[in-house]
Amino acid sequence: MKILTPAKINLTLEIVGRRSDGYHDLATWMLPVGLYDRLEINVKDVQSFESNLPELEGDSSNLVIRAAELFRRTATTDACYDIRLEKAIPIGAGLGGGSSDAAATLLLLNKLHGFPLTSQELHALAAQLGSDVPFFIDAQSAWCTSRGEVMEPREFPRGLWIFLAKPGFGVSTAGAYSAYTALPSLQKRGREVTTPWGVLRNDLEPAVFPKYLLLPVIKDWLTKRADATLALMSGSGSTIFAVVQSQSEGESLNAAFRQVFGERVWTSVCQLNPECSRLVASLHRSQISENFDLRE
Ligand code: C5P
Repeated sequence: MKILTPAKINLTLEIVGRRSDGYHDLATWMLPVGLYDRLEINVKDVQSFESNLPELEGDSSNLVIRAAELFRRTATTDACYDIRLEKAIPIGAGLGGGSSDAAATLLLLNKLHGFPLTSQELHALAAQLGSDVPFFIDAQSAWCTSRGEVMEPREFPRGLWIFLAKPGFGVSTAGAYSAYTALPSLQKRGREVTTPWGVLRNDLEPAVFPKYLLLPVIKDWLTKRADATLALMSGSGSTIFAVVQSQSEGESLNAAFRQVFGERVWTSVCQLNPECSRLVASLHRSQISENFDLRE
């Protein structure tokens, strides 16, 4: 059984405070992005894991494997799985790729086993795996609070596109938050930008930018472009995104970007806020239908 797992961006990311468990309380607007990993899971006699990225091990350092183990324990099954993961979403990018793969694993296994877990149980398991994982159970535009796992759907227009740029390095989320903790309080706030969707910012930018000097250079270059409505870092980086009006605008921005920054920065032009929730909804018990919408 196969599923496409979308990426996300944080349209805005406000850090509201420090929690007693060491995490930070957030207020963040997350949107799915039309860039997908491809995950395939089948029940087999022995456990196996295969990926197009050799650095991804089939052990508990891998969020997909942790998701499978958590599912097995919770649903009390001793089944083994053949798991294949084709990554298109870069790692350490702030695009939620690993979280999306983990959420997709829970959804696929729940379907494979005849829906033993409810949607609430899946959300609870997702929250144990990571702060961003619950977002990908629904994969729809949402205002997210607490660690990021408390979600409220929020309307966002369809039809816009996004340009993504990620340099050859990634940023560790834990490292970004600890750099944020060390900042003087006056610097604990990203630069605000007024947009059609409100005043937006990313409070992790002042924590990440001083260490990764190429990121503010990319952001400033995108901000000055008349065709980019908004340029911000996504999550803890290292991706900087720019919202554009159409695919062709995104492609011409991409061409101009490559002339300046060269070929060593990974870039992508994708749909912003594509309809992925139908795909995910089809994996919930309430939505089983003849029209099973698992994309190949
Ligand atoms: O939840 P997740 O495993 O994605 O978080 C990775 C790290 O990011 C945590 O260990 C924590 O240091 C930091 N974090 C945080 N507050 C959040 C989310 C993540 O401090 N709301």
